[in-house]
Amino acid sequence: MGSMPMMGAARADTSAAPAPTATPAGAAGECPPVRQALVDSGRAVFSGAGSCFACHGPNAKGTALAPDLTDAQWLNVDGSYGSIAGLVRSGVPKPKEYSAPMPALGGAPLSGAQVCAVAAYVYSLVHR
Ligand code: HEC
Repeated sequence: MGSMPMMGAARADTSAAPAPTATPAGAAGECPPVRQALVDSGRAVFSGAGSCFACHGPNAKGTALAPDLTDAQWLNVDGSYGSIAGLVRSGVPKPKEYSAPMPALGGAPLSGAQVCAVAAYVYSLVHR
């Protein structure tokens, strides 16, 4: 499993295929669109399984360990859904302003679906 090349074996019908125009969520790696239900489950991940609250604070307003995620000022991402999901996957090995790194997945064993959900939640904090 897991060795399906993304390019190459395109299945015919390229002519009228809707060109995937630079949709930032594409970089999120198959995250579903941001919807309220996803945001709600992401909030639960943020304050539960993801442990994000431990560093970013219960309302994502930031602590001495990690930045405010509600102020639309970003250090490592452009604020897009895709960039946020990507950051959650990779963590921040070299923080720009804070002293200790953010571990990949916040250090929690999050599933791909949980990563998408928590990214949708963080995205929703600024985009309402
Ligand atoms: C161990 C503390 C810690 C945990 C846990 C943690 N983070 Fe972070 N987070 C950080 C640090 C540190 C940064 C980078 C700050 C810097 O660059 O100076 C960061 C950056 C971010 C950013 C980018 C902010 C920006 O301005 O670029 C997002 C989004 C984010 N975290 C989301 C999350 C989510 C979602 C979780 C839970 C899955 C999480 N974090 C868990 C410490 C943490």
